[in-house]
Amino acid sequence: MATKIKRIGILTAGGDSPGLNAAIRGVGKAALGSYGMEIVGFRDGFRGLVENRRINLDRAALSGILTVGGTILGTSRDKPHRMEIDGRTKDMTGAIKDNLRKWGIDCVVCLGGGGTQKSALRLHRAGINMITLPKTIDNDVAMTDSSFGYATALDIATEAIDRLHSTAHSHHRIIVAEIMGHRAGWLTLGAGLAGGADVILIPEIPYDVERIAEAIGQRSKRGSNFSIVAVAEGAMSRDDARVFDSADKKLERAKSLNDKIEAKHAIAALEVRHQDNTLRLAHQLEGLTHLESRVTILGHVQRGGTPSAADRILATRLGTACADLISREQFGVMVAAHGENAEPVPLDQVAGKRKSVPRDHSWVEAARRLGTCLGD
Ligand code: F6P
Repeated sequence: MATKIKRIGILTAGGDSPGLNAAIRGVGKAALGSYGMEIVGFRDGFRGLVENRRINLDRAALSGILTVGGTILGTSRDKPHRMEIDGRTKDMTGAIKDNLRKWGIDCVVCLGGGGTQKSALRLHRAGINMITLPKTIDNDVAMTDSSFGYATALDIATEAIDRLHSTAHSHHRIIVAEIMGHRAGWLTLGAGLAGGADVILIPEIPYDVERIAEAIGQRSKRGSNFSIVAVAEGAMSRDDARVFDSADKKLERAKSLNDKIEAKHAIAALEVRHQDNTLRLAHQLEGLTHLESRVTILGHVQRGGTPSAADRILATRLGTACADLISREQFGVMVAAHGENAEPVPLDQVAGKRKSVPRDHSWVEAARRLGTCLGD
């Protein structure tokens, strides 16, 4: 099929995740093979577009990367409209536009999570042909069934819970396993369910520590003197949830740029204070239950290593569909997974939205039916 698009740029932004290279390969091989396009990779997220950090992604460069973890392009959390340049924060949108014109790049493919979708929408509104793919272990990108990276992280967290079971059992301990996910509970809920955690705590369901202690006490009475608590890094008590909620509302209400920045700083400060929440929780549970408690923070192990088969398949089908959409010059969209289909969704329906776990989601219901404590 004839297309006017000759040269495409591609970058990965935000936190890395398994499956990024599979997606780069999917976009690249389909764009080269089916449409004869040229692919240029930009290093280190949006900074690569500013500082001309690029590599030619020819067939050789795209070969042998399917199973490789991380991203061959490198990544960063730089935002085009607020980038640190020589110690000052600058809006680099105009510079990026000029650079792309100079280098003859017809469109840019961005692989990223929520923040990246927002940056891509800004660039699209500034007149650049943008198209995105959803990547995140948190699975919180809106308007897509799933994002690549999630399935692998889910397997890793599940295996960790499996392993923690035997040692918790041997020592009659509570083991509190902290799982990533930022402010979404998908990873913890999925791993908790798959790994048979006794308590699952997610940000969407604020907890009462007394209820958790009660549930653990009930287990002890039934002869199970150990418990696995799967806690999302963003899970919080009811009191903390009220504080976060009012900070979030302040951000929603903010009209001026200054008010927005102030509200964002307030949320960031709360997040910093929340960082040792899991340790606090374990300490509280030890005090209330008189069972020895230990904490395991899974951290970046969940983002590393080779992607699972499910992630490779998802990244490949979204990546190849992306090349088809580029050939049809369909920009300003994210390529979303809808069932077995890969469909374009306008970026303004994705950016700034978070896909949270609905409180009545079937996984939540299933956990409750098992008698798992959700902290409420
Ligand atoms: O968004 C992916 C994620 O791993 C979150 O789950 C986590 O909160 C965050 O990134 C950690 O970011 P960083 O790698 O910058 O510490």
